[in-house]
Order: sequence, then structure tokens, then C-alpha cells
Amino acid sequence: MVVTDNIDQIRQKRWQDPTVSWGLVPTMGALHDGHLALVKKARMENERVAASIFVNPTQFAAGEDLSTYPRPLERDLAMLDAAGVDLVFTPTADIMYPAGFQSKVEVTRLSRFLEGASRPAHFAGVTLIVCKLFNIFQPTRAYFGQKDAQQTVILNRMVQDLNLNLELVICPTQRASDGLALSSRNQYLSPAERAAATVLNQALQTAAKLIKEGETRGDTIRRTMGELISGEPLARIDYVSAADLNTLEELDTLKGDVLLSLAVFFGQTRLIDNVMMYDI
Ligand code: PAF
Repeated sequence: MVVTDNIDQIRQKRWQDPTVSWGLVPTMGALHDGHLALVKKARMENERVAASIFVNPTQFAAGEDLSTYPRPLERDLAMLDAAGVDLVFTPTADIMYPAGFQSKVEVTRLSRFLEGASRPAHFAGVTLIVCKLFNIFQPTRAYFGQKDAQQTVILNRMVQDLNLNLELVICPTQRASDGLALSSRNQYLSPAERAAATVLNQALQTAAKLIKEGETRGDTIRRTMGELISGEPLARIDYVSAADLNTLEELDTLKGDVLLSLAVFFGQTRLIDNVMMYDI
């Protein structure tokens, strides 16, 4: 496995043989089984697999966890090596955003809802860094997890709008045995918060069941999720949503493809999760 912070070396490896397909798994490190599932899928679908590890400062707002975000680099590299990754890009902020940097990549409307309402500059940072990574690697395919549902919708829009020449592959959320979605931020949780956080998947599953049984009122679904989560004393709701999966706008009446999603604080830790439902 080649590990480098050098963009020219990435390009040289990528284009050594132009006939070879490459899968890219962009990450911020602190890897868990969710990331490894993306690597595994990329391994199955491509001749070579690359990953990036970069805690991207432009997607964090002041006061968020940029400085404390876990950075276990040696452990991450050992995991990627064991998973069969060929090439890893580990740039510094100065490499990605050198002096004089001033460009933007934004998907405007979709970035305003849900996570974007709570974290206004977040997606502009995500689209900027992912667009740069796509330009650096020029992968055949790139792999993202469904846990960041809005991120996947926005990146899909970016790929279409900017005619980027690659396929996005969205992989199912990986969960612990009690249903909590795997996240690098789960390690911030105290044992009591970790136990309480199982309410998130329970709320989503309850809402999904109601919809399968015929409930189509958006308010009822949002209220059901809200009440279940509020019953957990350690949880503080940021939002619960039942939105159109394509426009991300809240629905009065659920129909078509629907994204049930939520963001909830446990202490200082903000967790997100979602369920996608098709053809309601
Ligand atoms: O999903 C993430 O980990 C990040 O948002 C990404 C896509 C690696 C960009 O920094």
C-alpha cells in the first residue's frame, strides 16, 4: 500500500495504467466497520482501491469538533492495508488549501435543509473537498455511506451538475448489534449516552413501520419520532424530519421516495441517522 501526501504521486499511480478501474473511498479517518464496508465494496467493483484520510477544516464551523476530531492515523493505515487498499492520500490542510486559495463549489438549494439548517457552511465544505478529491484521483467510482444521507443526495447533484466523469456508489449504513449506526463520533459517548442512543434507530424503525402500515401524514410521523426520542432523558433533539428524498423538503403527505432523518445530541455529541423509503 502506497501512502502519500503528494498530489503528483497520486496522479502518477492513478494513470500508470489508464485501462485499470479505480474505486475511491474518501474519509476523515477514525475508521470503523462502516468505512471498511465501503472499501470492501470498492474492492469488489474495481481493480484498484484508493482512500483518502483528511479531516477537512472547511466543513466544520467554529465551535464544532475540528480540533478534537479523533486522528488515529497509524491505526487507520493498518486497517486500510489489511482491507487491501492500494493507495492512500493523507494531505495536510496546507496541501489542500494553500495560501491564496479562494474557490468555492456549492450545491446551493439542497445544502440549506436538514443538516444544512443546523450547520450552514457544512456542505459547502464537503462539496469543495470532495470535488477536489475527485479531480485529484479521477476515480472510476467513489463510495459513500447512506448514513450521511443528505451528503449523498448533494454529491449526486454535484456529479450531475458539473458533469463529473465517475459513478457514485452509496452503501447501506452499518449498525452495531443494538441498531446504533456506526460513526466515528460514537466514541465520544459516555456508556450511559451510548445506551441511550439506541433510541434513534428505534424511532426511525417505528416511523418506518407506521408508514408501511399506511400512515402518510408527515406531521404524525415527525411527532411519533419526536415523542419517542424525547422519552429518553439524555437525548436533545436538533431535528426530526420526513422529507422528499430528492428535494429534501418536508412533506405534509408522504409519497414517492421519502427520507426519514434526525439529528440528536447526547451531551455534546451530535448523532445523525436515517431511513430511506421508496415508492410510498
Ligand atoms: O463523510 C465524510 O467522512 C466526509 O464528509 C467526506 C466525504 C470524507 C468529506 O470530508
